[in-house]
Amino acid sequence: MDKRASWSGTLAFVLAAAASAIGLGNLWRFPYLAAQYGGGMFIAVYLVLVVTLGFTLMVTEIAVGRKTQQAPLTAYSLIQKKWGFIGFLGTLIPLLIVPYYCVVGGWVLYYLKAYAVMAFTGANVMGEAAANSGDVFGAFITAPFAPFGYAMLFILACAGVIILGVKNGIEKSNLVMMPILFLMAIGISAYVVCMPGSVDGIKYYLVPNLDCVSVDGKFSIMMLAKTILGAAGQMFYSLSLAMGIMITYGSYMKKTDSIEKCVRRIELFDTLIALIAGLMIIPVVYMFAIKTGTPVKEAMSQGAGLMFITLPKVFAMFGAAGTWIGFAFFLLVTFAAATSAISLYEACVSSLCDFLKLERKTATIFMGSTIMFLASFSALGYGAWGHIKPFGLDSFLDFFDFFTNSVLMPVVAIATCIFIGWFAGPKYIIDECEADGQTFKAKAVYSFMIKYLAPALMIALLASEICRALEIGGWKI
Ligand code: PFF
Repeated sequence: MDKRASWSGTLAFVLAAAASAIGLGNLWRFPYLAAQYGGGMFIAVYLVLVVTLGFTLMVTEIAVGRKTQQAPLTAYSLIQKKWGFIGFLGTLIPLLIVPYYCVVGGWVLYYLKAYAVMAFTGANVMGEAAANSGDVFGAFITAPFAPFGYAMLFILACAGVIILGVKNGIEKSNLVMMPILFLMAIGISAYVVCMPGSVDGIKYYLVPNLDCVSVDGKFSIMMLAKTILGAAGQMFYSLSLAMGIMITYGSYMKKTDSIEKCVRRIELFDTLIALIAGLMIIPVVYMFAIKTGTPVKEAMSQGAGLMFITLPKVFAMFGAAGTWIGFAFFLLVTFAAATSAISLYEACVSSLCDFLKLERKTATIFMGSTIMFLASFSALGYGAWGHIKPFGLDSFLDFFDFFTNSVLMPVVAIATCIFIGWFAGPKYIIDECEADGQTFKAKAVYSFMIKYLAPALMIALLASEICRALEIGGWKI
C-alpha cells in the first residue's frame, strides 16, 4: 500500500477545506435566511455559532482524521470498535449527497452555458428571461435527457480531478477555481453595492431588526428558537460538517500544522463568502421586489427558485450588463459547487481505498459509477420519474436532501459529540491539536462545548427538523 497522500502545506489544506465549505449553501441559503430572520441580527447569531459550535465540530473531525490517518469509514472503529457505526453513517452521507449535488451542478452548468452563449454571441437563448424564467427552468429539469446528461458531465469533471490525486488533482484545481471564485464574488458584489438605489437593499440586509425574535411586534420565544436553530442548521451545512469530508481532509494534514489556526481560517473564508453572497443577491432582489411591487420577503426565495428563477429575472432587468453579470455569477456558482462535490466524492473514494486497500484509480471509477447510478434518480425525478413521490416527498432529490441533511447529519453529529465528549474524552482531540508542540488556546471552551452545548444544540436541531417534516407546531425554517 502506498504512503498516505498529504497536502503540500498549510495553505493547500485551508484552501481545500474552505473550497469544500464554500458551496451552494453559502450562495442560495445564507442570503435568504439573513433576509427572513432579522438581517444583522441573524448574522450576529450565525457568527457566534460559527466560532463556538462550528469550531468545536470542525476541530473534532479534523483531529480524528489526522490522528487516525483514516477516512471516516475506518476512522471511528480504529478509536473504539463499537463506535465504528459513526464512520459507516459518515460515509453513507457523502455517498447519498454527492449524486444529487451533482445533479444541481448539472443545472448550474446548463445555465453557465446559456449565459456564456448570450454574453459572447448576443443570441437570446433564454428568451425573455424576465417573463418566463420559471418556464425555462421547468422545461429543462423535466426534459427527458438533458438534466441527466449535464449531471453526468459534472460527475465526469469531478472524477477527472479526483483521479489525479490529492496534490495533483484537488490542490491544483483549487488553485485555479478558488481565486476566480473570490474575484467574481468581489467583482459582482462591488458592482451591486455601487449601483444607484442599492442602499435600501443593503440596509435591509445588514441593519439588525427584531424580526428574528418577534411576531407582529411582540417578543416570541418560538421565533428566537427558530432563528437560533435556523442559523445552527445553516452553519452546520455550510461548514461541510458531519459528512466525512473534514475527517478525510484532516487525514492528509501534516502534524506540524495547527488545527486550531487552520479551522479559524476556514471559518473566516466560508463566512466571508456567505456575507458577500448576501451583498450580491439581497440588494438586487430588493430592487426587483420594489420595481415589481412584490413584498420583499416573498421575492427573497431560496434554493433552486432563487438561483434559477428569481435571479435570471433580476439579471434581465439590467439588460446587456445583466447577461455578463449572469455569466460571471454562474461561473462562480459552478466553481463553488464543483469544489464541494469534489470533497464529497473524495470522502467516498478515500474511505473505499482505506477499507478495501484499493488503488485510487479503481476506487474513483467504482465510486463514479455508483454516483452516476444514484444521480439518475434525482436527474430524472422531475421528468420521466416525476410521478414517483418517495415517502410522500416531492421528488427523489428532495428525499435524498431531507434524509441526509435533516436526519443523518444531525444523528452523526450527536453521536460524534457523545462519543468524543463522554467516551474517548475531549483529551483525545486536545492532544492531537497540541501535537508537535502546537498550542490549543480554546481547549477549555472546546471541552465544555463537546460535552454539553454541542450535543444539546444538535439534539434540538434534529427535533426541529423532524417537527418541520411532520408539520408539528408550525416549525418551518
Ligand atoms: N458546504 C457546502 C455547501 O454549503 O454547499 C457543501 C455541502 C453541504 C454539500 C451540504 C452538500 C450538503 F448537503
